[in-house]
Amino acid sequence: SEMEKGTYDHFMLKEIDEQPLVMRKIIEAYENEQNQLVLPPEILSATTGCDRIYIIACGTSYHAGLVGKQLLEKLAQVSVEVHVASEFSYNMPLLSGKPLFIFISQSGETADSRSVLVKVKEMGFPALTLTNVPGSTLSREADYTLNLHAGPEIAVASTKAYTAQIAVLAILAATTAKAKGIQTDFDLVQELAIVANAMEVLTQQKETIEELAHAYLDTTRNAFFIGRSADYFVCLEGALKLKEISYIQAEGFAGGELKHGTIALIEEGTPVIALDTQAGVHGAIRGNVQEVVARGANALVVSMQGLELDEDAFVLPHVHELLTPLISVVPLQLLAYYAALHSDCDVDKPRNLAKSVTVE
Ligand code: G6P
Repeated sequence: SEMEKGTYDHFMLKEIDEQPLVMRKIIEAYENEQNQLVLPPEILSATTGCDRIYIIACGTSYHAGLVGKQLLEKLAQVSVEVHVASEFSYNMPLLSGKPLFIFISQSGETADSRSVLVKVKEMGFPALTLTNVPGSTLSREADYTLNLHAGPEIAVASTKAYTAQIAVLAILAATTAKAKGIQTDFDLVQELAIVANAMEVLTQQKETIEELAHAYLDTTRNAFFIGRSADYFVCLEGALKLKEISYIQAEGFAGGELKHGTIALIEEGTPVIALDTQAGVHGAIRGNVQEVVARGANALVVSMQGLELDEDAFVLPHVHELLTPLISVVPLQLLAYYAALHSDCDVDKPRNLAKSVTVE
C-alpha cells in the first residue's frame, strides 16, 4: 500500500520517486474529456472576482506559494501577496477591498495557518484551501478546496506535496487566465506531461546526485543556495530540505543579494549550489558563480538544458520556463537525502520536527 516503504529504505526517497506519477495524477484529476484543465466554476468566480490574492502558508508550503504567486501574476494577471501564516496572524497588512485567501497546507492541520483562516472568515472573506488531505480542518473550514492528489506523504521533509502544490497552483493560474479571456499559447496539460517525464529522468540519476552530495556536502557544516527569479524560491526550499534532514546549516538567497552581505561567509571550500534555469538572469547568476569561485567556493551549477556552460554542470532536462521549479527542486531533494544518509541522520524523522504542527 501507499503507507509502506516497499523496496525503499526511506519514505522520503519513495516520495521523491513518486513525483512523476503525482504530476500525471494531477493532470488526470483536473482535465475534462477534451483534455482541457477545468476547475469548479465557483473557484474561478472567486479568483476572477477578487482584486488581490493572499496566499498564507508555512514551511515548504510557503515556498510553493512563492512560486504560485509568480504563476498567478504572469498567467492570470492577478496581484498576489504571499505571507508566512504566523507573521500574518499578528501583523496583518492593510488588505485590499476584495481579497481572496488561499491556504496551502499539505496536512490541512497546521495551527498557524488555521488561526489566519479563522480570522479572515470572521472578517467575511472567501477562502480556498489547497491540501493533500481533503477532509482536514483547513479544508472543512474554507469555502473551497482543491486536492493535491499527492497521496499520503509520510516523511517529515515534504517533497511530492511541494511539487503537487506548484502544479495545482499552475492549474489555478491557467484556468483563471482562461476564465478572464487572457490569450496564452501555454498548453499546461502538455507542459506538465513534459515535466513528469523530466522528473523521471532526474530520479534515474540518483548515482550521479549521490556522488555530488559526497563531493559537495559530506564534510561541510554549511552550504549556500543561490538563484534569481523563480530559482531564488527553489533555493529557499533546497536550503530548507538540507537543514531539516542533514542538520547542515544552509541558506538560500537571491543572487543579487550576495554582494550585500552573504559573500562575507564564502571561504575556501564553502559549498555553493547555483540554480541557472531562467534565461533572463542567466548572465547575472553566472556572474555570481564567478564571484564565489574567485573566493574559493566549491560551486555546483544546476543548469537548464541549453544554458549549461561548463562540463561539470548538472543539467536539467528542458521544461517550460515557468515550470522549472517543479524539476530543479528534484536534484536538491536528492542532494539533501544523500547528505543526510551519509551522515547517518534519521532521514524520515529528523530531530525536533513534526510532520504536522498543530500548536501555534
Ligand atoms: C511542518 C512540517 C513542514 C511543513 C510545515 C507546513 O513544519 O515539518 O515540512 O512544510 O509544517 O505544513 P503543512 O501541512 O501546513 O503544509
